[in-house]
Amino acid sequence: MLQLLNGAHVAGAVSCLAQLGIPDLVEAGPKSAEELASQIGVHPQALYRLMRATAGVGVLSEGPDGRFSETPMSAVLRSNASPSLRALAIMGGREWHGRGWSRLEYCVRTGKQALDQIYGMPVFEYLKQHPEEAQIFNDAMTGLSMIDSPAVAEAYNFGGLRSIVDVGGGHGLLLATILQRNIYLTGTLYDMAHVVEGAANGPLKPVMERCTLASGDMFSSVPAGADAYIMKHIIHDWPDDLCLKILKACRKGVNSGGRLLVVDNVIQPDNDLSPGKFLDLQMLIFPGGCERTEKQFRDLFATAGWQLSRVIRTVGPDSIVEGVPA
Ligand SMILES: C[S@@+](CC[C@H](N)C(=O)[O-])C[C@H]1O[C@@H](n2cnc3c(N)ncnc32)[C@H](O)[C@@H]1O
Repeated sequence: MLQLLNGAHVAGAVSCLAQLGIPDLVEAGPKSAEELASQIGVHPQALYRLMRATAGVGVLSEGPDGRFSETPMSAVLRSNASPSLRALAIMGGREWHGRGWSRLEYCVRTGKQALDQIYGMPVFEYLKQHPEEAQIFNDAMTGLSMIDSPAVAEAYNFGGLRSIVDVGGGHGLLLATILQRNIYLTGTLYDMAHVVEGAANGPLKPVMERCTLASGDMFSSVPAGADAYIMKHIIHDWPDDLCLKILKACRKGVNSGGRLLVVDNVIQPDNDLSPGKFLDLQMLIFPGGCERTEKQFRDLFATAGWQLSRVIRTVGPDSIVEGVPA
């Protein structure tokens, strides 16, 4: 139990290490806390204590000379790592995120979302109004996508499809990965205007001749006339009534014989400590959605005019829940 209770402290320390950029600075070779502290202008003793703590859980390694070296666990926090979890680690330490989690009890009591109570606005509106936080959030999503995207592109056969829309596609890494592997496919990245703005110079750049950028509100409409609508980590963001709006918009827009591809963690009805169940709490605190079981996806699809045809596991944490027009 003490170990579990310590979890928040471990995550906080790792987040701070990433924020200070220490994993980047030890890439070239071992460094002492004094050297690093003078390089980045922080308190040497305090930095030593931070690094000693994270080294205790395998994030850095302290040598007999007191210098700290990179480990596989610190390497994944470097900005230039692929995948890089640096932005995700940093996001966990941002004030809005910490304040959100501090209101979990409120969310459990009411079923409402924390940021509405704290800042008087939902999370995506908060991000829209705070560009620095939005940048960290979008980079965090791209970092996770470096793991998920190849897994999805590998697990699904896109052959036979001519066009695909990535709904809520963020900065477009998933779409870029799919287009790179399927040269006959054209794609549309669809997201809120301020997010799409940041996408033009992102991962889609090499495939821009086969890609369109579109912005709008997915609860009202999605770009029409595609063979497939894919959405990763979108349905888990929202409660059923809002998911139905998105899924119905896709149903309206899809070409005949087309498909729906929902990429999310599918909750297994066992009792393990799968990260999906904690991600589920994150969905409760922030946008108000939830992780779902296969049956919940099947029911949701049916209400929106889709028939769940298959659930395809990927090598990552997500599955692809495929639907066809009912
Ligand atoms: C959890 S992120 C997932 C991003 C991306 N699909 C991925 O897996 O990395 C949710 C995305 O939904 C977008 N989004 C939120 N509300 C939206 C709306 N009303 N219309 C279009 N996109 C929206 C956000 O801007 C964000 O990029």
